[in-house]
Amino acid sequence: MTTSHGLPNAHTLSDADASVLQIWGKHPLKGHVKISGAKNSALTIIAAALLCPEDCRIRNVPNLVDVKRMGQILAALGVKIEHHGDVLDINASTISHSKAPYELVSQLRASFFIIGPLLARLGVARIPLPGGCTIGARPVDLHVRGLQAMGADVQIEHGIVHAYVTGSQRRLKGAKIYLDYPSVGATETIMMAATLAEGETTIENAAQEPEVVDLANFCRAMGARIRGAGTNTITIAGVPRLHSTDYTINPDRIEAGTFLVAGAITHSEISLSPVVPEHLTAVIAKLQETGAQIVTEAPDRLCIIPGDTIKATDIETLPYPGFPTDMQAQFMALLTLSEGNSLITETVFENRMRHVAELNRMGADIRIKGNHALIRGVSMLSGAPVIATDLRASAALVLAGLAANGKTVIQCLHHLDRGYEQLEVKLLSLGAVLERVPAGADAGSAGLTSYSVLSEKD
Ligand code: UD1
Repeated sequence: MTTSHGLPNAHTLSDADASVLQIWGKHPLKGHVKISGAKNSALTIIAAALLCPEDCRIRNVPNLVDVKRMGQILAALGVKIEHHGDVLDINASTISHSKAPYELVSQLRASFFIIGPLLARLGVARIPLPGGCTIGARPVDLHVRGLQAMGADVQIEHGIVHAYVTGSQRRLKGAKIYLDYPSVGATETIMMAATLAEGETTIENAAQEPEVVDLANFCRAMGARIRGAGTNTITIAGVPRLHSTDYTINPDRIEAGTFLVAGAITHSEISLSPVVPEHLTAVIAKLQETGAQIVTEAPDRLCIIPGDTIKATDIETLPYPGFPTDMQAQFMALLTLSEGNSLITETVFENRMRHVAELNRMGADIRIKGNHALIRGVSMLSGAPVIATDLRASAALVLAGLAANGKTVIQCLHHLDRGYEQLEVKLLSLGAVLERVPAGADAGSAGLTSYSVLSEKD
């Protein structure tokens, strides 16, 4: 079922939970994968289109549930939005509401990112506090403090953030803002808000993630004056108005990293394009430490040549250019099959190790202490019914399933569908053996239901 904007409605989006993914492991993969546009860039770039009162064409937009939800939020604000393949046309000449609907915002943390553009365009924004992945508390205090430094009056009442700009012009004012932590979302919120502010804004200790640079480039393509994106100091000189643009989103470095790990864990040679190899420096370094070779076949094409064995290594997640937290779960799946002991330390999000229990169900030997996971390599994983607990945890379970003996059945696929475009189609084309079937149509998920009930009682 679709809305008048050609987007599936919220009810249809939850149907993924009525299905399970069955994977029969130990089938070697081979071939080439096309990497989609970056989810996290797409989400903020769609929000940033609210800054522009003219047509914006955004290309290489991945067809994902999260992206559709973001489009639905814009549509609910009265913005014209049309999706044709991987092209999104947005016209925010009229924004008829300043309040985002709770039903949509609660399903997608990134929806909070519209607060900056709405405030910059309308001088007012009312956004319910966000939901999203269950990977920690994920506050928005840094976003709010940044907007307050730019002159916004921000109150949180009954779970809704009310933000206003006072004064006759209702225009934010440039400010010097130091972030206590280089938050990706807070950097993006402040950067978007500052594009239309009066005067200059400086963000110190800014996030340096490629998605921040992608967003800055999109805003610059609309006439924003932004310097330093990709470094820890970003300067934005406000302009009165932005203009129409046609912009292509970067390839998704986390999807690319996930397919590289698929090659490593199944001992398969896989090539991928388009990619920006510099965005994958930390991921490539860690794969090399595990014994894989990564060959640059062309400036935008990488190939993984697996090692005979998987060597143990230690990983600490950090803000970019450190090792990405969004690749932690996938590497944990890989290291379960390594020779030796590995230590993974998660420093970005608390509560981002919920995949450990599921990997252990498949025969992994992982112990958690605080934000550390000690992984003792085992010689094999065995397929089992498992539950996806968040987006990247789902990817880790798919990877483990590809390498395990026998059949793995993954439940709660809505997490996976939030962030991987056509994952099953891409894996099938590489030779993986997997199938999405209605829950209950397989023996594995019946066992899973009783497991989840049991674990709740525990
Ligand atoms: C973005 C990405 C997500 C990725 C993360 C870190 C999107 C849509 N999502 O999330 O995939 O895992 O960056 O690379 O782009 N924090 C605060 N106060 C705030 C904001 C954040 O304390 O106001 C904390 C968070 O709780 C977390 C850390 O800062 O512990 C990093 O969060 P942040 O960089 O903001 O991540 P997101 O932008 O939410």
